[in-house]
Amino acid sequence: MTASAQPVATFNQSTKIFRLDGGDVSYVFGVNSRGELQQLYWGGRLGANDHFPQAEPMREWASFDSSYTTTPQEYAGWGAGLFVEPALKVTFADGNRDLVLHYESHVVTPDGFDVVLKDIQRAVFVTLHYSMDPKMGILARSATIENREAQPITIEQAAAAAWALPAGNYTLNYLTGRWAGEWTLNQETLRPGERLIESRRGSTSHQANPWFAIEAGAPDENHGEVWFGALAWSGSWRITVEKDQLDAVRVTGGFNPFDFGYVLHPGESLETPEFYGGYSPDGLGGASRILHHYEIAHILPHRMGEGDNAAPRPRPVIYNSWEATEMNVTEAGQIALAEKAAALGVDRFVMDDGWFGQRKTDHAGLGDWYVNPVKFPHGLKPLIDKVHALGMDFGLWVEPEMVNPDSDLYRKHPDWVLNFSGRPRSEERNQLVLNLARPDVRAYVFGFLDKLLTENDIAFLKWDYNRNWSEPGWDQLPPNEEKKVYVEFTRNLYGILAELKKRHPKVEFESCSGGGGRVDLGILKYADEVWPSDNTDPFDRLTQQDGFTYAYTPQIMMAWVTDSPHWLNKRSTSLEYRLLSSMQGSLGIGANITKWNDEEMATAKRLIAAYHQVQKTIVQGDEYRLISPRNGSEFSATQTVNRDKSQSVVFAFIHSTQEGRGFPRLKLMGLDPAAEYALTPIEGNAAKDTPATASGAWWMNHGLDMSDDFRGDFQAAAFRLDRK
Ligand code: GLA
Repeated sequence: MTASAQPVATFNQSTKIFRLDGGDVSYVFGVNSRGELQQLYWGGRLGANDHFPQAEPMREWASFDSSYTTTPQEYAGWGAGLFVEPALKVTFADGNRDLVLHYESHVVTPDGFDVVLKDIQRAVFVTLHYSMDPKMGILARSATIENREAQPITIEQAAAAAWALPAGNYTLNYLTGRWAGEWTLNQETLRPGERLIESRRGSTSHQANPWFAIEAGAPDENHGEVWFGALAWSGSWRITVEKDQLDAVRVTGGFNPFDFGYVLHPGESLETPEFYGGYSPDGLGGASRILHHYEIAHILPHRMGEGDNAAPRPRPVIYNSWEATEMNVTEAGQIALAEKAAALGVDRFVMDDGWFGQRKTDHAGLGDWYVNPVKFPHGLKPLIDKVHALGMDFGLWVEPEMVNPDSDLYRKHPDWVLNFSGRPRSEERNQLVLNLARPDVRAYVFGFLDKLLTENDIAFLKWDYNRNWSEPGWDQLPPNEEKKVYVEFTRNLYGILAELKKRHPKVEFESCSGGGGRVDLGILKYADEVWPSDNTDPFDRLTQQDGFTYAYTPQIMMAWVTDSPHWLNKRSTSLEYRLLSSMQGSLGIGANITKWNDEEMATAKRLIAAYHQVQKTIVQGDEYRLISPRNGSEFSATQTVNRDKSQSVVFAFIHSTQEGRGFPRLKLMGLDPAAEYALTPIEGNAAKDTPATASGAWWMNHGLDMSDDFRGDFQAAAFRLDRK
């Protein structure tokens, strides 16, 4: 049987082996002689006729008769002397905390299995969902936990999935950061013990992102086996990377068990988020290319009302008013910006914070979502009409889950915020978090957004979320159930977005959270794009964009060109440099363009037009990080190749050259070696002694040389290659 004709999911009744095959990947597990579900293999695709014997549990290494804690269980309950990280931990009504999950039954689904586990005595059932993508080999896993006991149970820890790798030497890759400094790639040797990557903040967080990649041996961009995963959850989450006493590795991820406690009444069930896992033999670059394509094909919202399979389109080039006006928005001021934006060739005009309630500073207004009558005496319509007349569509900033104490909403409903009754309420940015888990708050938030979108011709909402949780109480519920807020808040967020998408199918959303604080595969099922960082400095962005692309596609990576010197670090850069830095992702303009002179307008107009021509290749192609800007490198370069290899775009940046150190020869990747490609500069005539046309083999083996004049501080060049 050829690979493509082989079914995705097969079960061998005699050996009790489950096998999933997709793309170049196989994933195998089985029921062992103790009745546990045991992982057996995850890696490169196996032969169709390869078979596994029945799984054998593994004993702990000890001088005495020991327990079986080193068995890599697919989903281990905490019980029977388990010392490694459990997937599920519960307390029963009678105080019993022993949970031993054994295989019960399964069904084959169109692209995988639903496997049911059950406690050896009690009626707690866990259905493990497996769904394998037949093309990219990415496996989506999640669990449904059901209480069929006569009494409630409390779930204290629930993972979406656990992944296992055999004993070996590995490098762990993960992303961390802070406000204005998101997306730092960390690479460290995986050592024995537990490494926690987590958010306890009620949302995804700037500080760590729910993505990991584990590489066999040392880190390598282009070679070597990589296993990676991304958790689809925008609430508090945890990924535990554990190297056990026998050097085997398991990665367990899902709801953060910290302060967790979800009461399941008889007959109720809890669904975990999805945890996606993939494999590439081609280093971190190969891993991120698979993940990018999967995100575009299966995670991001597809265009509704345009056929079921309308893939996400490249993002409109936007103008955003935030850095130009901050909250001083007025009808006349926004129209002045819109006129200049249209002259640049911008597709979408977005008015940021400041248009609603009594919003003059960040001390007031959040929660009061009426149009400020002084700033917009005739409502939003005159501005929206003008934006449309200029040939752009219109977008608006909102921060729906928040409230300022100085607002009509808070004065009316002080009980609507997350808090513990009678305790102080900590403010951040002078705001409190509405308890979106409450049905009345959910109804209010959905109601005002639905009204806003119904009454105004709005194509896009930038949905912001500018603080983390504190005092996460929910005093409407009995004390032992309050912790449900961790799940219900996020579910309601997703529910509102899903309902808005249904009611307003053409409206697109951006997930922003003071920059990149809410970027994960959960929110990306609803958000068409994200704001990676409030830091728009074009040099800082190179490293951030590099880190971002390990986990997320440039399709969603919004990048604005803003003013120079930059407000954050006072660095001065040319407009061309700023444009090229932003053109690595989804381009936007966020500068005060009313101050731009004719030359600046002409430069931006020329490069926006050039970007439009190659945008699809940049944001939806195969991305190669040719030279990473990480670790103080003087140079960086990226290349993207579109799916049929007919076009490629190369960006090259100099951070600061030293005497005698020219830009390294750039050996391109991913081209068709036999095809001829013509090289055209998009900006900066930096190539040297380079043929106008050469084979893919030439560009990949010989490479592209840069001119000796391509040097200095903060220089940039971009090229396109088109197949003849
Ligand atoms: C956050 C966002 C910014 C801007 C401001 C408005 O910081 O990340 O882009 O929208 O809020 O207050």
